Amino acid sequence: MKYQFAASGVLLLGAASASLYGESNLNHTCFLQKPVLSCSADAIPSKVDSCCSETFGGLLLSTQFWDTYTGLESQGQVLPKDSWTLHGLWPDFCDGSFTQYCDLTRQYDPFPSPKTTNGLPNGTVVPPYNGSNIGTFLEPFGKFDLLAYMNKYWISQGSPNYDFWAHEFSKHATCYSTFDVPCYGPEYRQHEEVVDFFETAIKFYKKVPTFRWLHGAGIKPSNTTTYSLDAIQSTLAHHHGAVPYIGCSGPRYNTTAAGNGTMDRGFTVISEVWYYNHVYGRPQDGHTVAVNATGSNTNCATSPGAIHYYERSKGSEA
Ligand SMILES: *[C@@H]1O[C@H](CO)[C@@H](O)[C@H](O)[C@H]1NC(C)=O
Ligand SMILES: *[C@@H]1O[C@H](CO)[C@@H](O)[C@H](O)[C@H]1NC(C)=O
Ligand SMILES: *[C@@H]1O[C@H](CO)[C@@H](O)[C@H](O)[C@H]1NC(C)=O
Ligand SMILES: *[C@@H]1O[C@H](CO)[C@@H](O)[C@H](O)[C@H]1NC(C)=O
Ligand SMILES: *[C@@H]1O[C@H](CO)[C@@H](O)[C@H](O)[C@H]1NC(C)=O
Ligand SMILES: *[C@@H]1O[C@H](CO)[C@@H](O)[C@H](O)[C@H]1NC(C)=O
Ligand SMILES: *[C@@H]1O[C@H](CO)[C@@H](O)[C@H](O)[C@H]1NC(C)=O
Repeated sequence: MKYQFAASGVLLLGAASASLYGESNLNHTCFLQKPVLSCSADAIPSKVDSCCSETFGGLLLSTQFWDTYTGLESQGQVLPKDSWTLHGLWPDFCDGSFTQYCDLTRQYDPFPSPKTTNGLPNGTVVPPYNGSNIGTFLEPFGKFDLLAYMNKYWISQGSPNYDFWAHEFSKHATCYSTFDVPCYGPEYRQHEEVVDFFETAIKFYKKVPTFRWLHGAGIKPSNTTTYSLDAIQSTLAHHHGAVPYIGCSGPRYNTTAAGNGTMDRGFTVISEVWYYNHVYGRPQDGHTVAVNATGSNTNCATSPGAIHYYERSKGSEA
């Protein structure tokens, strides 16, 4: 399984609790209220209904992967042709730091990563989940179209897709005020916020078609050509309206033949992009404002032509 921490900022300690602010479970009819922009001066629990404007993790990262295989092709788990895949929708704090596994009563991740809430031996242990997989939560809602979409676009490498969705939900989504259980009011149905989060992550994902944007600039997967980070970064920034974070894996440039002798120790295989946003009101409504990545906006090599954007393996996409 492939998981990554936010590149910038410090990991803050998160207290496990059933509700981030002790919101009431009544009357959160949010469209009656003025949507407040997350990370603005008014976006604090004493000034707004935390169910209706995000007051906990106000910097939203819509994140995607570019993988060339899943490792589970034999079980039909393949990558979507001509599309990057959905990684998650993360609630960072406004300064780019973040916390995780904020509500252990909603812990559905069979392989918690990290294993404690602060990632250290002295943190609260995150108990591995052993119940029905999170994909089954959609069934009582009849959301089979959503499930099919997720199995097409929200793809894990090295583990079943549903384990990855559970990881994204329990590690990250439990840290939003706006997806907190009390926000769903007195008629809350079990796992309603899980479905809502999945739909919202997809809503954000659909706004940032990385493959299409790069393709339009002539940047296509290739095992024979390389690209410059500048061209990739500026293309995506142009379309998104702010500079995203671009993540690379693979060897460091100056350990490769092409980069031999240079001082560029950035990584050379493009694999991730994180689009940063503030949001008016509930993230669910999708009223985003693009913002630049906080801190460093890449770990990739910056030398001209240093980046591989590899084609998928044969049989790994459909
Ligand atoms: C919601 O209901 C609670 C309890 O009845 C009340 O105290 C609060 O003022 C109400 N909030 C709004 C925004 O109507
Ligand atoms: C946990 O350990 C870290 C590093 O050893 C330390 O900085 C931190 O204060 C400790 N936290 C608690 C809650 O004991
Ligand atoms: C399943 O998880 C629960 C809650 O963490 C735990 O009490 C139980 O022992 C686990 N069961 C198995 C078979 O691991
Ligand atoms: C880098 O160049 C040196 C000197 O020409 C050579 O010995 C070495 O094998 C090269 N390393 C790589 C990774 O190509
Ligand atoms: C790569 O570059 C870094 C400086 O950016 C240098 O410290 C390191 O020794 C270099 N490694 C190689 C293999 O050249
Ligand atoms: C975002 O980054 C771009 C490019 O570096 C810069 O021109 C712009 O001013 C930045 N925007 C903000 C709000 O800092
Ligand atoms: C392209 O290269 C990547 C990385 O080496 C490899 O995984 C993939 O199978 C290759 N794709 C094709 C179509 O050759």
